This record gives sequence, C-alpha cells and structure tokens, in this order.
Amino acid sequence: MTTVTKAGGAPAPTGPGGFLSVRDLQVTFSTEDGPVRAVDGLSFDVDRGRTLGIVGESGSGKSVTNLTVLGLHDPLFTTIDGEIVLDGKELVTATEKELEQLRGNRVAMIFQDPLTALSPFYTIGRQIAEPYMKHTGASKKAAWERAVEMLGKVGIPNPAERARDYPHQFSGGMRQRAMIAMALVCDPDLLIADEPTTALDVTVQAQILDLLKDLQREFGTAIVFITHDLGVIADMADDIMVMYAGRAVERGTVDEVLRAPRHPYTWGLLNSMPRLDSDLATPLEPIPGTPPSLLTPPSGCRFHPRCAFRDRVGGDRCVTESPALAPGRSSACHLGAEQKRTIFAEEIRPRLG
Ligand SMILES: Nc1ncnc2c1ncn2[C@@H]1O[C@H](COP(=O)(O)OP(=O)(O)O)[C@@H](O)[C@H]1O
Ligand SMILES: [Mg+2]
Repeated sequence: MTTVTKAGGAPAPTGPGGFLSVRDLQVTFSTEDGPVRAVDGLSFDVDRGRTLGIVGESGSGKSVTNLTVLGLHDPLFTTIDGEIVLDGKELVTATEKELEQLRGNRVAMIFQDPLTALSPFYTIGRQIAEPYMKHTGASKKAAWERAVEMLGKVGIPNPAERARDYPHQFSGGMRQRAMIAMALVCDPDLLIADEPTTALDVTVQAQILDLLKDLQREFGTAIVFITHDLGVIADMADDIMVMYAGRAVERGTVDEVLRAPRHPYTWGLLNSMPRLDSDLATPLEPIPGTPPSLLTPPSGCRFHPRCAFRDRVGGDRCVTESPALAPGRSSACHLGAEQKRTIFAEEIRPRLG
C-alpha cells in the first residue's frame, strides 16, 4: 500500500495509511435491547485513484461503516471508537461543521435509491448547481453551466434542456445518473458508493459502472464501493474487503481474493453467487444458516456456527479464539495457510465451475 502525502498535509496519527485510513473502528448503537456493535474493530485504507470493494451479506456492517466515515450517524445513540483519517485529518473528533464542509465537497456519497438524495421540489439542475455554489462560491450562472456540463458527463442527452426537469420527469437510470452528477460536481477526493446500481437493470448498471471508472480516471477519486455482488466487485474494485458480522474476514487485491480466496465465508459467497458465464443448470448454494445477531454475537470466530471447515482446525479454537486479520493480504481464519490453499483448490474451485 502506498502512502499519499500531500504538501502541507499532516501525516496520519498511526503512520502509513491510505488517503482514507480507518483504524480499529467500532460503532456501537444503544438500543432498547442493549448495545449493538455493528462494526467491531475494522481497519482499512483507500488510496487516491483506487477502488476498495466492500462485500458481505446484508447486515454485515457495510453501510454503517461508511455512514460513520461521513459522520452521518445519530450522535445520541451511537458510540464511535477508533480512527478515521482523511488526508491527514481525523474525522471521529471533527465537529459537525467540519464534516458538513467535507460532505458534498471533498467527500461524496451515492446510494441505491436516488430519491433519498434528490428533492422532488427542485429542478435537477438546481440540485446539482447548489452544492457547487456553496462549496466553490461560483456565481449562479457559472454553477448552472457546471450542472449542465456534469449532466452531459454522466450521459444525459440534451443536458441543457433536461437540467430544467424535476426528478419525477427522469427515469430511474437517469435519476441515478443525476445523483452521480450531484455527488461528483465538486470533484470529491473520496466517493462512497453504497449499492449504487443494485436497483438498476444490467445494461444501465454497466453504463453507470463505466461512467464511475471514467470519472475516477479523470479526477483520481478514491472510491469505496459497497455491494453484495461479487461480479460488480470484480469489474470495479482494485482491492476487496470481505465483511462478516461487523468484522473484516478477508482482504487483498481483487485477483488475490477472487482467484485464491482463503476464508470459508468468502468461499460461501463465491459459491452462492450466480456466474455470468454459467449455464442455468449450475445450482446456486446459499451459505447455510443466517448471519448472527449482533446483540449476542458468537464467541471466537463469528462465522464458526455456519462454517463447514471448523472440524479441520484442532481443538475448539474457532469457538474460543477470535482469528486476527493482518494488514495487507490476509484472512481471519484459524485454518493453516496450506490447508486453505488445498481446500480451495480441491474442494471449492471444482464446484465453482
Ligand atoms: N441505528 C441503528 N440502531 C441499531 N442497529 C443498527 C442501526 N443501524 C444499523 N444497525 C444494525 O447494524 C448492522 C449492520 O447494518 P448495515 O451496516 O446496514 O448492514 P449492511 O452490510 O447490509 O449495509 C445490522 O445488524 C443493523 O440492524
Ligand atoms: Mg447496506
């Protein structure tokens, strides 16, 4: 991993890290039933111009992690520990005003549902122009021109005309593009994309993914891309972090993790996902069992109740000892390195076809 040091930027408190550097993040919600630790000791880095894919079943803590990075949590019911450092600036202790300044300017987010980001009452053009005026001090006219330019960039035909439309006059795919234009209008250094294409049909999804890649090439944006779709990750990401029950269980480059995955949970995800090139006869096998309750998470390895390989680890380590995830290429599993290699090669890969 490379360190990005910007002239004048203070170094991250914990030494080398990415442009975005998250260290030992813990996010705990107080609920009526007790504390829910939705994120439990998460560390990762994202560099400029790179895309980190975060993948995991629903409820694994992907969205909470990224809402926390943006400071979009309820301060009354949420406790955050650990460090979130963006370009040398610590965000956990930042004020709401400082975070407000970052959001929509240096940091932007796109969601699955563009209607949560777009107001029905204002034209698309105005909604793109406004953050640009606010953060750059541009004139109304310049900001409008910029909004039209951005709509063109995201592939909206006749952007000068369509900028005067309201969100309901746009199709789902066009609203998604408009939201991306809004997110990117200030050239953010960091873009967080949370399942941005899940609701779209395959063709529009492919167009939007290409668009994000183009914009990243142009602006050198660091992207965190959240999805449960390993096919999308393979297409978009440079690095992958696999999450399970609030923890990272495996990380590495896309090639490392998708070609030679080492964690039984990642094997399960791969085995349960439809393959683009597969014939329909290939059966999909969901991972048996369900994700655990975070009110009472399993001891040791959180995946152990669903893991088909825990007998191959000596004793009851999987139940008593939480496996660590090292920096860089790593998997948090008590199986030995050679065991992981042979199980994948002999028992998992043949099933993947
Ligand atoms: N405000 C909240 N209060 C209590 N629990 C929450 C809250 N927000 C999220 N959670 C819980 O945190 C866990 C992680 O959620 P989330 O990050 O949304 O998962 P996903 O990986 O699907 O994006 C889930 O179990 C969810 O129920
Ligand atoms: Mg989510």
